[in-house]
Amino acid sequence: MRTELSFSAPSQIQTELLAIAAVDTQTAKGPDARPQPELLTSDADVKKAAAAVLSSGEFKAGANEALLLHAPAGLKAKRLLIVGLGKQSRGNVHSVRNAAGTAVRFAKPRGIREVVFALPESDLLPPGPCARAAVEGAFVADFDPDTYRSDRKDLSVQSFTVAAPAGADKGAIEPPFREGVVIGESQNFTRSLVNEPGNKLTPTEFGRRAAAMAKEVGLQCEVHSTDKIKELKMGAFWSVSQGSEEPPALIVLRYEPKGIKDGPILGLVGKGITFDTGGISIKPADNMEKMKYDMAGGAAMIGAMRAIALLKPNVRVISIVCASENMPDGKAQKPGDVQTAMSGKTIEIINTDAEGRLVLADGITYARQLGATHLINAATLTGAIAVALGTHNAGAFSNDDETYARFHAALETSGEKFWRMPLGDEYMDQIKSDIADIKNTGGSRYGGAITAAEFLHAFSEDTPWIHLDIASMAWIEDSKPFIAKGPSGVGVRSILEWVRSYGS
Ligand code: BES
Ligand code: ZN
Ligand code: ZN
Repeated sequence: MRTELSFSAPSQIQTELLAIAAVDTQTAKGPDARPQPELLTSDADVKKAAAAVLSSGEFKAGANEALLLHAPAGLKAKRLLIVGLGKQSRGNVHSVRNAAGTAVRFAKPRGIREVVFALPESDLLPPGPCARAAVEGAFVADFDPDTYRSDRKDLSVQSFTVAAPAGADKGAIEPPFREGVVIGESQNFTRSLVNEPGNKLTPTEFGRRAAAMAKEVGLQCEVHSTDKIKELKMGAFWSVSQGSEEPPALIVLRYEPKGIKDGPILGLVGKGITFDTGGISIKPADNMEKMKYDMAGGAAMIGAMRAIALLKPNVRVISIVCASENMPDGKAQKPGDVQTAMSGKTIEIINTDAEGRLVLADGITYARQLGATHLINAATLTGAIAVALGTHNAGAFSNDDETYARFHAALETSGEKFWRMPLGDEYMDQIKSDIADIKNTGGSRYGGAITAAEFLHAFSEDTPWIHLDIASMAWIEDSKPFIAKGPSGVGVRSILEWVRSYGS
């Protein structure tokens, strides 16, 4: 998708589709309170073209509600699309991201390949952040997961233009606009990895794609396999891989800005299970096909590293992705087995389906060994996180309030929804083993996301650390006006902003 920034008045832009945002300004409540849609533009010709339909009561400016006018009088655009941001009081940068996405997804099935999105003119909506959000929203919306359909039609929008508000300062809009391109593309890079089926994206192929991306954007990359994993004594990681014919991949990406010799080193660790059958504790067949997305945490880290390489924050970053299949096999590990992790801790395997925490345990230890001073990990770790939070929030856990505060602030920019969950010794007690240092499940189904987090905590120890359980959000079951169903790319934007908080 080509992107452009225009400083022309929206009414003067020649395009297939001009999208303008509107809010509902009605503040009164009750049965007689009719919606009062208002266009967020100072362009008199646009207002005139939309006046009749706005006063008709047909369009309420609800969030992502869209209304199309053909051949709008007085405008150079062939079509005018009015997109709702919802109640004025609730309109924010994130509603602008979704509105831009709604415009793109409106255009796609209609064969419209060109969209101009006029940034809303409102004191509540700063043009810089809105420009970035609109571009992100456009890229996210342009993605469709049907890549293996032989009759697939390429419906992607070829040109997306952001029209700056009247009198806007180019210097304040252009940099965030450019950032939006990098971030939107990086999130889609993650989504394209997550979308791949397990037979295509094996751990080895995952490593190849990470290496190709690293070469393109100038990151250092090493991809190791069985020998190195054994040499490093990653007994927890290997215990998952030993039951598969496909060799595992230990993907290491490094971002080292020139001239930085001290300060924090951020460690980004991702779960990269390219298919999770459950192993010997095999999963039921229903929905098992979805377990191709069990590498979404690793893919989020790789997408974030792409954005980091291009946006160049002033901080060192290492990313470790532990990629493996989890398969049942004659060589697969069994419940009751005891494994020795890289840190030296011994682990009693209760359930071979709790494999994510095993690969992450060694990923975390390795990141610390490579010098990481602050850790963040992402994983589709537990079904229990969706029981706790539904599918509208992902879980976040941390052993350090200062580190978490940066992540919390990052959410303001990213617009992603993470809810902080507790840790605690009581949960840790649930994973004490009679035979080894720790066991890999908590026994009770209650609090399953927290006992999983405590398991990881036993390996991050006192290094400031954030754990993101994205199992509830990594796959979208039903499409929305601004995003297709399928892989969401959740985490990329927030992890990136967290990293930038240490050195933008
Ligand atoms: N990959 C799953 C978690 C998952 C579930 C991801 C649903 C996405 C959607 C993970 O490896 C797993 O199987 N966890 C078990 C843990 C249990 C055995 C303690 C679970 O959640 O049931
Ligand atoms: Zn599992
Ligand atoms: Zn898993």
